[in-house]
Amino acid sequence: MSETPDIKKGLVGVYADESSISKVMPETNSLTYRGYAVQDLCENASFDETAYLLWNGELPSQAQLAAFQAEEKANRALSPALLRVLREFPRDAHPMDAIRTAVSFMGMEDPETADISDAAQRRKAMRLLAKIPAAVAASNRLSKGLEPIAPDASLSFGANFFHMVFGKVPQPEVLKAFDVSMILYAEHTFNASTFTARTICSTMADMHGAITGAIAALKGPLHGGANEAVMHMLKEIPSPDVAEAWLRERFDHKALVMGFGHRVYKTGDSRVPTMKKYAEIMAEVVGDKRWMNTSAVLARVMLAEKKIHPNLDFPAGPAYYLMGFDIPLFTPIFVCSRITGWAAHVLEQAADNRLIRPLSFYTGLEQRPVVPLAQRG
Ligand code: SDX
Repeated sequence: MSETPDIKKGLVGVYADESSISKVMPETNSLTYRGYAVQDLCENASFDETAYLLWNGELPSQAQLAAFQAEEKANRALSPALLRVLREFPRDAHPMDAIRTAVSFMGMEDPETADISDAAQRRKAMRLLAKIPAAVAASNRLSKGLEPIAPDASLSFGANFFHMVFGKVPQPEVLKAFDVSMILYAEHTFNASTFTARTICSTMADMHGAITGAIAALKGPLHGGANEAVMHMLKEIPSPDVAEAWLRERFDHKALVMGFGHRVYKTGDSRVPTMKKYAEIMAEVVGDKRWMNTSAVLARVMLAEKKIHPNLDFPAGPAYYLMGFDIPLFTPIFVCSRITGWAAHVLEQAADNRLIRPLSFYTGLEQRPVVPLAQRG
C-alpha cells in the first residue's frame, strides 16, 4: 500500500487558486470586496454599486451606476414561457428548488447560453441578477395561490423585490436593512457554492449551469440554508428566558446550533456586527424584540461554553423574518445577492482557467480477477 499522502478532507486550509475579488482576514475579523471593507460599503454605498464593483473591480461613477441600474431594470421581466413553467411547479416545492429550476430554464431560453466569451457571460450575469428576484417572488406567490406581480422598472432593486413579493414598498428603514443584507451576502471568497460554480465553469460549461450548481450547493443547512434553520430554531424556543436551558439541552445531544461557527472565521464573522445592528433596527421598526433577545442569550452561552461565534446567517434570519418574508424565502434571498459573487468568480475562473480536478487517495480492495456469473453461484 503506497504511503498515505497529506489528505485535506473538506479542503480545510487548502489554497486552490488565486483570486482578486474578496479577502477574508480572520486575524482582524474583516472582509473586503476589491479592497473596500464591507462595513464601509454598507454605510457609504448600495447593493447596486457593490454588484458593479464585484464585476468591474471599481465602484461606479454616477453615470456608470445609472447605466448599470437601467440595464438591470430593463432585464427584470420573466418570459411568458418561464411564467408558464413556474405555474407547473408543485405548490409545496422548496423555493430553493424552484429558483434552481427556474435558473436552469433561463439557461435553456437565453440566446447566448453557449457563448462563454467574457462579454456574453457579463450580459448573462446581468440577466440573472435582474430575473432571479422576479422568479423567486413569482414562484412564492404562485405557491400561495396568488398571481405574480410584474417587476416595476420605476422601483429600486430592493423596493422592486418587496413590491413583487408583497405588492407594496416598505418604509426606508426596512429597505436600508434589506440593502445592507444584500451587500453582506454578496461575496465570500471560495465558499462551497462559489467553489462549485468555479468547478463547473472550469470545464468550460456555461454561466447558467455554474449558477444552477451553486444554488444547489447553497441550499444545504451547513451553508446558505442555515439562515432558514436559524429562524426555525429561534421559533422552537418559547421565550428568551428559557433559551439558555433550551441550548444546554442541545449541548447534551451534541447537536449543531445553526447560525454558529465558520470554516474560516474562528473568532467571529466580520459581517455579524453590521447585520445584527440592522436586525435590531428591524426589531424596533416592527416592535418585536423577542427574536433578538433570544439570539443574544444563545450567542452569549455559545461563546462562554463552546467558544463558538455566530456567523452572518444568525442575525440575517430574524432580520428577514421581521421584514415579513416566509422562512423558506430566506435562502433564495441569499441567492438574489450571491449571484453577484458567483458571477464574479465565473468571470475570474474563465479568464485564467485550469480544469479543477483534484486527486483521491484509494483505500479500496487491490486489483482482483472477475469470476464469471455462472461460477459465482
Ligand atoms: C455560510 O464558507 C463561507 O464563507 C460560508 C458563508 C458564505 O458567506 O458563503 O459564510 C455562509 O455558510 C455560513 C455557515 C452557515 N452554517 C451554519 O451555521 C451551520 C452550523 N455551523 C457548522 O455546521 C460549522 O460551523 C460549519 C460547517 C459552518 C463549519 O464547520 P467546520 O469548519 O468544518 O468546523 P467543524 O465542523 O470542524 O467544527 C469544529 C468543532 C466541532 O467540534 P469537535 O468535533 O471538534 O468536538 O466545533 C463544533 C464542531 O462540532 N462546531 C459546532 C458548530 N460549529 C462547529 N458545534 C455546535 N454548533 C455549531 N454550529
